[in-house]
Amino acid sequence: MSIWLLQMLEIQIHHFETRGAQKSKNSADDLDIFVECEVHSTDVTQLLFSVSFKNYLILSHLTLVAVSPVPWFPRKIQDLDKCHHLITKYDPSLDHGHPGFADLEYMKRRAFFADLAFNYRVGHAIWLLLFRREVYRKLSNLYPTHACTQYLDAFQQLEKYCGYQEDNIPQLQDVSRFLKERTGFQLRPAAGLLSARDFLASLAFRVFQSTQYIRHFSSPMHSPEPDCCHELLGHVPMLADKEFAQFSQLYWFTVEFGLCKQNGSIKAYGAGLLSSYGELMYALSNKPEYKPFDPEVTAVHPYQDQAFQPVYFVAENVEDAKAKNYMMKIKKPFSLHYDPFTCSIEVMNTPQKVKSSMSHLALRYL
Ligand SMILES: [Fe+2]
Repeated sequence: MSIWLLQMLEIQIHHFETRGAQKSKNSADDLDIFVECEVHSTDVTQLLFSVSFKNYLILSHLTLVAVSPVPWFPRKIQDLDKCHHLITKYDPSLDHGHPGFADLEYMKRRAFFADLAFNYRVGHAIWLLLFRREVYRKLSNLYPTHACTQYLDAFQQLEKYCGYQEDNIPQLQDVSRFLKERTGFQLRPAAGLLSARDFLASLAFRVFQSTQYIRHFSSPMHSPEPDCCHELLGHVPMLADKEFAQFSQLYWFTVEFGLCKQNGSIKAYGAGLLSSYGELMYALSNKPEYKPFDPEVTAVHPYQDQAFQPVYFVAENVEDAKAKNYMMKIKKPFSLHYDPFTCSIEVMNTPQKVKSSMSHLALRYL
């Protein structure tokens, strides 16, 4: 089983154990491997095919356990303490292409921030952030001409209330409080690039998982993975906009690399652009291909995460990018109801629950 397969199928390993083989086939070094893992029923065939394809592995015993029709997911905000599974794709200790690869000092710092994130629990205070001045200076010079008005308005507020300045270090706690007051979003520290499942589950509670470490000094204008420049300069200003905060779906070509029309020209609202000097210049340079934003097409368009995007989707305006109708069309095996009083999610799988939530809804508007 490769790491790639584990990540692609989002397989969760609960138990992994090796022992000397009871019946060795080739040599005395043969091992019996016991793996207990959780995989979606539609992916079982692909997993088994992949295991049996490796000629050094012999599948001798398999037990399939039926899973509940409603899988585990965080139902209250405290459950997010379990949502910190990382994608190791851009880990500086594993990825040769990472600018910080083999830099021991950098990796030590990253381990310090990873510890902070893994030990964080809902309600803890969060501090410690660093900006690279150079990144801040170059990008903030580009924003007036390249960023959309929603971004510029929020950025001004962040300069005023959260210490967004070239010579200051904004604190995650202050930024989180600011967002909470404006749009109900709050930040929690993440150790690195999270699994899509954990990242999106957090958004259900308006919690944005934010990294705290900074990109490597040798590559200030681009980071292959999210870092605090990306979060604070890319995501936070847009999350401070009430309208924009309403939608956080179709992530790649909208929230990360979205463009929109404003006053006859194209402007950026995607965080991946607003935190990368090189790609922000490139995206508005007429070199890439531009396509009109269409959620049906955009959602299934293959994406590029190793270099600049060859194609960007341009929305008529930020409102157009919200794609509410598209989200309504996605088929779900069950319905959910979010209760803002208890900040918890309930599965609507019985008529009684639906009836009860409707009556609460009616009372709320009395
Ligand atoms: Fe991002």
